[in-house]
Amino acid sequence: MSSLSSKQGPRYRHIAGESEPYETIGVEKLTPIIGAEISGVDLSSALSNRTMDEIHRALAENLVIFFRDQHITPQQHLAFGRQFGELHIHPAAPNEGDPALMKIYADKDSPRANGEGWHTDVSCDVEPPMGSILYIKQCPPRGGDTLFANMYAAYEALSDRMKAYLDGLTALHDGEQTFRGLYANYGVKDRPEYPRAEHPVVRTHPVTGKKALYVNRGFTRFLIGVPRDESDAMLAYLYQHAENPLFQCRFRWTENAIAFWDNRCAQHRAMWDYWPHTRSGARVTVKGERPV
Ligand code: SIN
Repeated sequence: MSSLSSKQGPRYRHIAGESEPYETIGVEKLTPIIGAEISGVDLSSALSNRTMDEIHRALAENLVIFFRDQHITPQQHLAFGRQFGELHIHPAAPNEGDPALMKIYADKDSPRANGEGWHTDVSCDVEPPMGSILYIKQCPPRGGDTLFANMYAAYEALSDRMKAYLDGLTALHDGEQTFRGLYANYGVKDRPEYPRAEHPVVRTHPVTGKKALYVNRGFTRFLIGVPRDESDAMLAYLYQHAENPLFQCRFRWTENAIAFWDNRCAQHRAMWDYWPHTRSGARVTVKGERPV
């Protein structure tokens, strides 16, 4: 280790504070930085207000939460999502019978799998989704994990100079390159146009009030108001920074598990390392607000 790095200490110092105990659910953190498994909840039955409050709190504290061994119908999956807000309809992806139930599927004949690069769901929308609830029913024997990254931590770990540079900057997010032709193998016809929107590069979370880095490889195209070569270099740096494993957790799926992530402060990517096996499920996505 160089004397410089030993003097500076870790790039990002997470203060692992003790949170108040939960009363109706169990919350087991995957890492100090992001992710927690929730126990003591059966999502096929009605949840008390207290339990719902604690699920909200667990999501706010951990950015992504996981529920194992859940046996829910598509209607119960949709109903669970509706408890967090109006449901989002994906602008391109095929669905599982209901427009709000997005199909997540890959097998030996698939040309690709959903979500293989780091991204925030549909950040090209003017009001991008607040959260996504993915239910995986069929898993490959190994692999098919999903990785999640904490964008509060990514923001906090930037230097003060970089934070000052990014302050007030906006970026264009565009679905065109991402979605056009993407689902042709499912017979999905392209729309004349896909959503695009300008968002702040650093957004403030409406619940926690914390600042999060809000650019992603999936949808962000360029920074507004700076020369294109500067924008390309800056975004390349920010993506590389945001993808530091220090900010991540990795979820190993088991059949009938659910992941619920907050798109306002977390990015994710799915691993397609299980070909020729099948991985199958559905995602319910909850509408969000305009980032500020
Ligand atoms: C996605 O919603 O981006 C897909 C995530 C996954 O399949 O793990």
